[in-house]
Amino acid sequence: MRSLLSFLLLPLLVIGGPTPPDWHFVQNGTTGIIALEAIVVSPTLAILFDRVQNDPLQIKGHGAWGVLWDFETNKATPLDLRSDTFCASGGHLSNGSMISVGGQDVESPYTEPDTDGRMTIRVFEPCTNPSGTGCTVFEDPNTLHLATTRWYPSSLRIFDGSLMVVGGMHELQPFYNVDPVNSFEFFPKKDGGVPRPSPFLERSLPVNLFPRVFALPDGKVFMIANNQSIIYDIEAGTETRLPDLPNGVRITNPFDGTATLLPLSPPHFIPEVLVCGGTNTSDTIPPEEMSSQDPASDQCSRITLTPEGIAKGWVVERMLEGRVLLEMILMPDGKVLIINGAQTGYSAYNTTKDPIGQSNADHPAFTPVLYTPDAPLGSRFSNQGMPASDIARLYHSSVTLTPSGNIFLAGSNPNSGIVNDTLFHSEFRVEFLNPPYMGVARPALRNVPAIIPFNHAFTVPVDIPAGINTAKMQVALIDLGFSSHSFHSSSRLVFMNAVLARDRKSVTITTPPNNRIFPPGPGYIFLTIDGVTSVGAQVIIGDAKAPPVKDQGIPLHF
Ligand SMILES: *[C@@H]1O[C@H](CO)[C@@H](O)[C@H](O)[C@H]1NC(C)=O
Ligand SMILES: *[C@@H]1O[C@H](CO)[C@@H](O)[C@H](O)[C@H]1NC(C)=O
Ligand SMILES: *[C@@H]1O[C@H](CO)[C@@H](O)[C@H](O)[C@H]1NC(C)=O
Ligand SMILES: *[C@@H]1O[C@H](CO)[C@@H](O)[C@H](O)[C@H]1NC(C)=O
Ligand SMILES: *[C@@H]1O[C@H](CO)[C@@H](O)[C@H](O)[C@H]1NC(C)=O
Ligand SMILES: *[C@@H]1O[C@H](CO)[C@@H](O)[C@H](O)[C@H]1NC(C)=O
Repeated sequence: MRSLLSFLLLPLLVIGGPTPPDWHFVQNGTTGIIALEAIVVSPTLAILFDRVQNDPLQIKGHGAWGVLWDFETNKATPLDLRSDTFCASGGHLSNGSMISVGGQDVESPYTEPDTDGRMTIRVFEPCTNPSGTGCTVFEDPNTLHLATTRWYPSSLRIFDGSLMVVGGMHELQPFYNVDPVNSFEFFPKKDGGVPRPSPFLERSLPVNLFPRVFALPDGKVFMIANNQSIIYDIEAGTETRLPDLPNGVRITNPFDGTATLLPLSPPHFIPEVLVCGGTNTSDTIPPEEMSSQDPASDQCSRITLTPEGIAKGWVVERMLEGRVLLEMILMPDGKVLIINGAQTGYSAYNTTKDPIGQSNADHPAFTPVLYTPDAPLGSRFSNQGMPASDIARLYHSSVTLTPSGNIFLAGSNPNSGIVNDTLFHSEFRVEFLNPPYMGVARPALRNVPAIIPFNHAFTVPVDIPAGINTAKMQVALIDLGFSSHSFHSSSRLVFMNAVLARDRKSVTITTPPNNRIFPPGPGYIFLTIDGVTSVGAQVIIGDAKAPPVKDQGIPLHF
């Protein structure tokens, strides 16, 4: 009987061959600090920021609160920081420098007294050393600072390559924003450094921390805070109110849902924004009446930001589960990865009536989901073939696409200070989520220029693995964004027209028409053929000059 079975099964197994690679998690390395903010700063490095606290990784006799993470060795090197980076934001400028803004004022036994980070502007110049030797964060609070104190602000690279800094609060507040900074400012400064007051931020209190902000292809800025949305015209200084999120759903901190600009495609680059998760709890309930067991919202709301799309309003769809503290990652093939967070509860810690340890959230969402933007409504979400992690990524975690094309996950600390003995303890373990293409022969782009102008066609050599079907080819220009508090500031994907030579040995790619479609500055170009994605090639799109830069490329007529 046994031999008959093997006789029957053996040919089937041989014909089936090895199982094709699937998505999988790999745990590798530890951060030594809580990675509550993450930004990729070179093909091999990311900066992770925490707060001033007793992190295990030491520098100069105290806990470090920032590190350079090396993707090649999977090791963290402490950064010598001066000010407290807790709940800051950041992004890249048109000249490639990384800027981190804002933070906390802390009285801490772990370091020298001068650590007030609330007005800090930190500069990390482009780093060409693969392991980061000689690269560090520059801070000079006397000469380089914001106009006002900002904790929990958002930031966004805009059409002239500057960083726009949005909202925040002045001082530590345990939950709601009751000490707001309802204004915008810029780095480098505009208007002589005078912040611009925002009625929108005023209206969206007390749930308007880390506003979700997006640079639109015409240079204006779409913003969501609480359940409200606007378009802000930077050049005219005007706010235009758009429809509220439907069904009472609210998404900014401390009710963190997330939002992303969906991939932009030629020739029209029509902007659509997807907003997912958060909660439909009222923002008038005191936090001590909330429960860590309150279900999170499973609602996603999508809007097309054209006059017709705005008239139609938000279109509602449902995730596979409710989520707070989730993040969304734009993948090189244009799908959106939904990852991290919890199925119940809220942001922050120890303010609900029944925290788990100190966590205001419970029931971690361990299985990532893929959203296919161009699939029919009702069939866009799938977790088929997705693995489950066993590491909870709740409040104060971060996630980013890496230049290699996989997903880096770190952090989680819904606790004040380092706490190792609770269910949702301080988390130092790094994980990668590897898409199937990480395990097969991949296409490769060669000799991609470091700086490429707008509206420019360039031809580079390409390696295409044998047997791959080149009928479906996508070339994505991606800003990997700055991950902090369930939002990727400046995250963006613009598809570029690309033509493969008949001999399949070179590809001609045309960069986006102008600096409003892709704000000038750093990005990575990924080539995807037949679902298999290359490693990303690091570029600066534009003239790589210091901001503000002038308009470049050709205008697009709307
Ligand atoms: C917590 O755990 C980390 C990682 O294992 C360790 O390095 C650190 O010393 C621990 N801290 C405390 C306060 O127990
Ligand atoms: C972890 O990363 C190191 C450095 O890149 C590598 O040598 C090692 O094989 C990795 N381990 C796993 C389990 O992937
Ligand atoms: C948005 O929130 C405000 C303030 O809480 C509320 O008055 C308004 O009705 C909400 N909008 C929707 C569409 O639920
Ligand atoms: C609020 O959200 C919960 C959880 O998704 C849902 O069960 C409930 O029906 C929602 N309530 C309203 C009024 O939409
Ligand atoms: C959590 O909050 C309670 C009530 O406000 C307080 O007594 C307790 O000390 C807090 N726990 C921590 C670890 O901060
Ligand atoms: C980029 O511009 C900013 C703002 O002017 C400046 O602080 C930074 O040093 C510049 N970086 C480089 C590499 O020139």
